[in-house]
Amino acid sequence: MGAEIIYGKELAQELRLKMKQEVSELKNHGITPKLTVVLIGEDPASKSYVKGKQKASEYVGVDSDLIELPTETSEQSLLELIDKLNQDKAVNGILVQLPLPNHIDEQKIIEAIDPSKDVDGFHPVSVGRMLTGKETFLPCTPLGIITMLKSKHISMEGKHAVVIGRSNLVGKPVGQLLLNENATVTYCHSRTTNMNEVIKMADILIVAVGKETFIHGDQIKKGAVVVDVGVNRSENGKLVGDVDFDSAKDKASYITPVPGGVGPMTITMLMHNTIQSAKLAHAKR
Ligand code: GUN
Repeated sequence: MGAEIIYGKELAQELRLKMKQEVSELKNHGITPKLTVVLIGEDPASKSYVKGKQKASEYVGVDSDLIELPTETSEQSLLELIDKLNQDKAVNGILVQLPLPNHIDEQKIIEAIDPSKDVDGFHPVSVGRMLTGKETFLPCTPLGIITMLKSKHISMEGKHAVVIGRSNLVGKPVGQLLLNENATVTYCHSRTTNMNEVIKMADILIVAVGKETFIHGDQIKKGAVVVDVGVNRSENGKLVGDVDFDSAKDKASYITPVPGGVGPMTITMLMHNTIQSAKLAHAKR
């Protein structure tokens, strides 16, 4: 008996269809959600992500604007652009695609975005509100993961959730969201000494490391729920996750595939946040 596969791609499509209907309703009330994406430089992965965001926006009916700027763009001119977008009442969401070129201070840019337009959920105000369990924009990948678990009615309360990886984008916030769902949370990272012991205890295992076949089925507890956040290119150019899917699938109760798992959910949650932002902006008028 193998694990049930959680197809994020299908769930994402279902949710996008619902959002499309909601946006159509909003437009009847004169509300058109708008997302502005800023892309600096020529990073192929970033370009591909941004394309996915535009495609989703188009499908859902969210207005999307892409501002592409050269790698040499100065920090000052990016800050000025953000200031302009902060003041533009038509813009509900501002997303500056990361990573940024080395000469630009990423945190400074994140902090320049008006928290009411922070659809990435990266601003310290959003992070702080998430930490205290208050309503706010939640970061898209972590929110996508929780939404996938909930779609299968997987209970998190009282479960031991182990998060491998502690990035600001995924590892840290997904652990926080699991804690908010009353899980017992352990983080593992590059300095963890007894990682295999901890992994064996995981009822829910979130793997966000960025290394192909970092986790093998032998390492996990029977019946664990395994969420693979990795996006890696294998030697033959195939997209693969951080988990050896075939071996893990025989041990897990649920598992997410790569591709077609967490990835499509991330962009879907971005649409969700942009729509919420538009509704909130309208309510404040
Ligand atoms: N780069 C990779 N993932 C993301 C994301 O979710 N948001 C932004 N802004 N940049 C990213």
